[in-house]
Amino acid sequence: MTSQHSQKPHHGHHDSHQQGHQFSGHSSHQHDDESGLAEVLDLDALLLRDHLQEIFEWTAAHQPNPATILDLGAGTGTGTLGLTRTFPAAQVTAVDQSEFMLQRLAAMMENQRLSARVSTLQADLDTGWPQLSGIDLAWAASSMHHMGDPAHIFDQIARTLTPEGLLVVVEMDTLPRYLPDDLGFGTPGLEQRCHNAVAAAGWNSHPDWATAIRDAGMVIAGQRTFVYATDDNRDLIARNAQAFLSRMRTGLEDTLSQEDLATLDQLLDPDGPQSLGRRTDLTMRGSRTAWAARPGH
Ligand SMILES: C[S@@+](CC[C@H](N)C(=O)[O-])C[C@H]1O[C@@H](n2cnc3c(N)ncnc32)[C@H](O)[C@@H]1O
Repeated sequence: MTSQHSQKPHHGHHDSHQQGHQFSGHSSHQHDDESGLAEVLDLDALLLRDHLQEIFEWTAAHQPNPATILDLGAGTGTGTLGLTRTFPAAQVTAVDQSEFMLQRLAAMMENQRLSARVSTLQADLDTGWPQLSGIDLAWAASSMHHMGDPAHIFDQIARTLTPEGLLVVVEMDTLPRYLPDDLGFGTPGLEQRCHNAVAAAGWNSHPDWATAIRDAGMVIAGQRTFVYATDDNRDLIARNAQAFLSRMRTGLEDTLSQEDLATLDQLLDPDGPQSLGRRTDLTMRGSRTAWAARPGH
């Protein structure tokens, strides 16, 4: 595992997603926030293995044998790991602005004995683009919506890919849901109200990236929405719900009604009679969209 540092400031950070920061890893309690996000990402990877595998296989159908892969906004390494396994001959460079995430990713790769095939690169893509070229596959999962200037990033990606290279962008269409509408206490519709509130605050908001990708001179090779719904592993779903709804609780402290906050607190109290861990009706459901594109040159 190698680690490089690349910082070449050349344009400002257009902070169009300020309101989403409590969910995206930039709050004033950055470390707590990053470790909370890391926990959610790792639990997602465990629970949604089949769902994510479908997206990796769809990627392989477009780009069967990439030698060099870039994982942009790699986080804890869900994409890096899946890509390394899907493409056993590839070398993967995992890029993230967060040293915390990259350290976690590096430790996971070490555990999986994949370090020789993965390098990490710390870079804030909003302030500098790494000196890379000849990339066969650029992967950006749940990261493009964090970028201040996505048009600029797509432009850089197009220049970094080989002429036969492929960009795959993945975003969550819907944040995951876990709860039934009627919990048996509190006012029904709590989860929907939480989702409405975070949507209004701009969490995870992203456009149909096809337009921006085309504007960067690339050609869309495919676009597909992948839906998931699982109730297979209730313990893991409860842990995932606990991690995710805790982040929502923090982000919505000033937005939700006192009654809804109290209901959430009851769900999130691990020792309480209404705890998530005691429920037998949790499921995890949501969807992701993936865009595949080739450079136009
Ligand atoms: C929601 S996580 C997604 C992680 C991973 N791709 C996945 O699918 O599990 C978004 C990641 O993008 C990183 N990120 C956000 N803005 C970035 C930027 N400007 N430059 C580099 N990384 C960035 C964050 O640090 C975080 O690790």
